[in-house]
Amino acid sequence: MSLQVKKLSDLDTRGKKVFIRADLNVPQDEAGNITEDTRIRASVPTIRYCLDQGAAVMVTSHLGRPVEGKLGSEDTLAPVAVRLGQLLDQPVKLIADWTDGGFSVEPGQVALLENCRCNVGEKKDDEALSKKMAALCDIYVNDAFGTAHRAEATTHGIARFAPVACAGLLMSAEIEALARALGNPKRPLVAIVGGAKVSSKLTILKSLAEKVDQLIVGGGIANTFLLASGKRIGESLAEPDLVKEAHAVMDLMRARGAEVPLPVDVVVADEVSALARANKVSIDEVSPHDRILDIGPKSAAHLAQIIANAGAIVWNGPVGVFEHPQFAGGTKMLASAIAHSQAFSIAGGGDTLAAIAKFDIARDVGYISTGGGAFLEFLEGRTLPAIAALQARFRD
Ligand code: 3PG
Repeated sequence: MSLQVKKLSDLDTRGKKVFIRADLNVPQDEAGNITEDTRIRASVPTIRYCLDQGAAVMVTSHLGRPVEGKLGSEDTLAPVAVRLGQLLDQPVKLIADWTDGGFSVEPGQVALLENCRCNVGEKKDDEALSKKMAALCDIYVNDAFGTAHRAEATTHGIARFAPVACAGLLMSAEIEALARALGNPKRPLVAIVGGAKVSSKLTILKSLAEKVDQLIVGGGIANTFLLASGKRIGESLAEPDLVKEAHAVMDLMRARGAEVPLPVDVVVADEVSALARANKVSIDEVSPHDRILDIGPKSAAHLAQIIANAGAIVWNGPVGVFEHPQFAGGTKMLASAIAHSQAFSIAGGGDTLAAIAKFDIARDVGYISTGGGAFLEFLEGRTLPAIAALQARFRD
């Protein structure tokens, strides 16, 4: 798999006006404090690279899903400007109403352009807006892998009209790591897909079922697969309507001599809470009022064995409610197995990043993607519009 895009690292940005589309969409608490800044930190190398070369740098991002045409107090990038300034160790001025220009940025300086999703026409990839933004710069850099699955004016339209359009350092690293994991992976290729719902990950499950050697499912997704294999799951979160689909995934895997290993033991409780009393039971002992909230030790040991023998690992989603210690054992064991594995591992998605942070294995994962939806769509083999737009400008 090779994706040909122009790379920032091959360009000279000295004295140029550079417009960087980053993904600085970070979680905040009710007071607006940033609670997790991975995406800001991941965006710094590209900004630093341009500043060090003596470019005049403009950076924009979306934050949340605001209504176009107004900037509410919860929409502003002001907290992001502060954090970015700390990380860059230089002032970052925040500029509102920027699409028509009328502001200046000197070489070696950086300006953060307010939430681009507040501009009318952003989400519809409006051509007039895209042209106006393209006119602000000499070089357009897309570094927003996390938003690469959206065809919006700052991720797609602007790439058509800017004098030069290239991938930033983060975008290039994401594309290379994902292409490497999926293009010609070392076998066996093991995918772990956890999370609440089969329905939200059905396409990824189907597409992985055609590629991987072992498909480990976790959380509510595993419960639906357990139902499909005739097990009783009490009051566990599941989607009975999707049992047929779960069967289809298992059949697809079986026909290729591959496997969907299902839990043989689980951790159950009658509620999801920090105070819930957890019981470890065999999968055949789940009672009608039980809720399955984690995999049991035998199942976790089996998964650890599969991971120890893997050639490559793709991880999206936990296998239990790991936020509570009594249901964290399965995900902890999984994280530790990935950390100790010799295989190239790649992980992405909000819950997965939280689990990686909680179990402190970041430096032992081969590559951690900043993408959530974009990560999944890339794994599905879909064309991401923002990457396609860069590919279209490769030869210019
Ligand atoms: C994300 O958080 O996954 C990205 O920033 C994209 O956000 P969106 O789903 O609102 O487009």
